[in-house]
Amino acid sequence: MWEIRKKFKDYEQRKVFAGVLDEKTLFTLYKLSNKGHFEILYGFVKQGKESSILIGEKKDGEKVAIKVHAVEAGNFKRIWPYLEGDPRFYRIKRTRRGIIYAWCKKEFKNLSVAHKAGVPSPKPIAQLNNVLIMEFLGHDFTPAPRLCDITLQEPEKIFKDVIKYIRLLYKANIIHGDLSFYNMLWHKNKVYFIDFSQGVLTSHANAEYLLKRDIQNVCKDFARYGIEVNVEEIYRKVVE
Ligand SMILES: Nc1ncnc2c1ncn2[C@@H]1O[C@H](COP(=O)(O)OP(=O)(O)O)[C@@H](O)[C@H]1O
Ligand SMILES: [Mg+2]
Repeated sequence: MWEIRKKFKDYEQRKVFAGVLDEKTLFTLYKLSNKGHFEILYGFVKQGKESSILIGEKKDGEKVAIKVHAVEAGNFKRIWPYLEGDPRFYRIKRTRRGIIYAWCKKEFKNLSVAHKAGVPSPKPIAQLNNVLIMEFLGHDFTPAPRLCDITLQEPEKIFKDVIKYIRLLYKANIIHGDLSFYNMLWHKNKVYFIDFSQGVLTSHANAEYLLKRDIQNVCKDFARYGIEVNVEEIYRKVVE
């Protein structure tokens, strides 16, 4: 599937994506491409109900990951509590589209904070409407595996790193909100955090609950390696 280059600007090939992405999203992609964020669109890494990831390539050959948040399929009941009360999004349009655009912008902002704070994560590149462009983690056209897809060689060390990253993120005032082996990639011998759309500020009404839930989910995932820890104790270490 990946051998077929799909030049987005080429009308015939544009049709390939038109069947999957809506008109407005195609226009957003077109704008981002014109700004130089990518030259070629290859295809999907993952196609999901709520979001899809595509691989793009810049003029200089660098690959980028392009995340498209679906506007129609958005599950508003689920995402609204993560947006509500966030001072960064007081004035969003309360329409289907307005909420998804804010959701995408939130992911970009959270990712930017995480990246700057030194949490291994894809370098944020650009965001417009429901589209986010970031560094592609992987080799050639193969995305880096998720932690749930592989067997870790040094689980104790990696567990410590993950807690360190959660703490770094917390110190930068962000809680991931959806942390587990599903949202961590193994790339260049390191764990990378991805998928920051659910992330909230530490001032969020449910911050403590969400942070504890993240820690609990991570501990549950590491338990398969026989790592047993006290969630409360780790929570205190993260916030101290
Ligand atoms: N920057 C990236 N580089 C490579 N692969 C990625 C990148 N971001 C996401 N992916 C791949 O796409 C999948 C879905 O991305 P994610 O941000 O977790 O979206 P979702 O909201 O659908 O869970 C990930 O599990 C991973 O396999
Ligand atoms: Mg995910």
